[in-house]
Amino acid sequence: KLEKIWLIFGISCLIIFLTTVGVSAFYLGNKPPSCLTTIDSEKVDTTKPFDKPGLHKVEGKEWDYELVYVASAFSYNPAKVEVPLGAKVKVIATTKDVIHGFEVAGTNINMMLEPGYISEYTTTFDKAGEYLIVCNEYCGSGHHLMFSKIEVV
Ligand code: CUA
Repeated sequence: KLEKIWLIFGISCLIIFLTTVGVSAFYLGNKPPSCLTTIDSEKVDTTKPFDKPGLHKVEGKEWDYELVYVASAFSYNPAKVEVPLGAKVKVIATTKDVIHGFEVAGTNINMMLEPGYISEYTTTFDKAGEYLIVCNEYCGSGHHLMFSKIEVV
């Protein structure tokens, strides 16, 4: 009798587990949470906020600045940006063509930019210096030339 209860309990757990995995894989498309918003990759240049790449001060949000990037083979727009020390910044990035990486060396920002999706990451730059953004997804012949700089002052 007791064994039967345990058997039912075990099978129930298995079903719940498989359902959770199934839902996250198919319904959510198994994307990292930083990469859920969609965008028409053909219209990046005319879609907000990507019509104005760069650093923008924002009011009434949990972060102080929004730092907007448009990646395309083989560069990032903007190529260089200055960020005030201690600023809480939401990085918002997308790509116009193929998959690119977005790794800010020396920080925990490491995103994948996929065509049709917007990647976001909020962080505080509390150490002065120059940060190199590199592409860590192979994107073609100019992959190794693809970089941008963040200067925290
Ligand atoms: Cu862009 Cu590699």
